[in-house]
Amino acid sequence: MQAADMGDDLQQVLITEEQIGHRLDELAQQIDADYAGQDLLLVGVLKGAVYVVADLSRRLRRSADMDWMAVSSYGSGTKSSGVVRILKDLDADLTGRHVLIVEDIIDSGLTLSWLLGNLSSRGAASVEIATLLRKPEAMKVQVDVRYVGFDIPNEFVVGYGLDYAERYRNLRFIGTLAPHVYEG
Ligand code: XMP
Ligand code: MG
Repeated sequence: MQAADMGDDLQQVLITEEQIGHRLDELAQQIDADYAGQDLLLVGVLKGAVYVVADLSRRLRRSADMDWMAVSSYGSGTKSSGVVRILKDLDADLTGRHVLIVEDIIDSGLTLSWLLGNLSSRGAASVEIATLLRKPEAMKVQVDVRYVGFDIPNEFVVGYGLDYAERYRNLRFIGTLAPHVYEG
């Protein structure tokens, strides 16, 4: 789905498909270098990270295993509470593995900070984080993120895996929605 398919629901394109692709090229090169000679397990966080995992992993010049986790942050509306529930756990045993958590976005950082602790306690050799987007709020919680695609303003964004009420995940770009979409 592209901008022209959105009618007047689109407010602004923040990051184009081309910009995403170019940045993922750079991140993949860094990951290739950093994990040279090591096994690598990519852990995608459903559902938002589906496109990031797909497009990032295919840019790697080595094989990487892939697993998925689904979590829900209890909380009201669009703010997460830090209380996280596992909806779907990993299939893989993390013992001795080099784990790279792949996320679509870090907002408050509460979800990732919990996830980092949870996965680190399973005997992994290392656990690092890659996120396509990071909001300035994320600075308020101490989470070490090794790979960041883009720092974005503190606005609600959709596309490239990110949704508003499950809509617009399949946009090719990252954008913001016109106010009338939220109003009903
Ligand atoms: P925290 O605040 O714990 O939450 O870092 C991260 C999760 O919140 C969702 N999130 C968003 N989803 N547009 C979205 O579609 C946004 O702008 C946005 N900000 C946060 C997302 O599920 C993420 O994993
Ligand atoms: Mg969501």
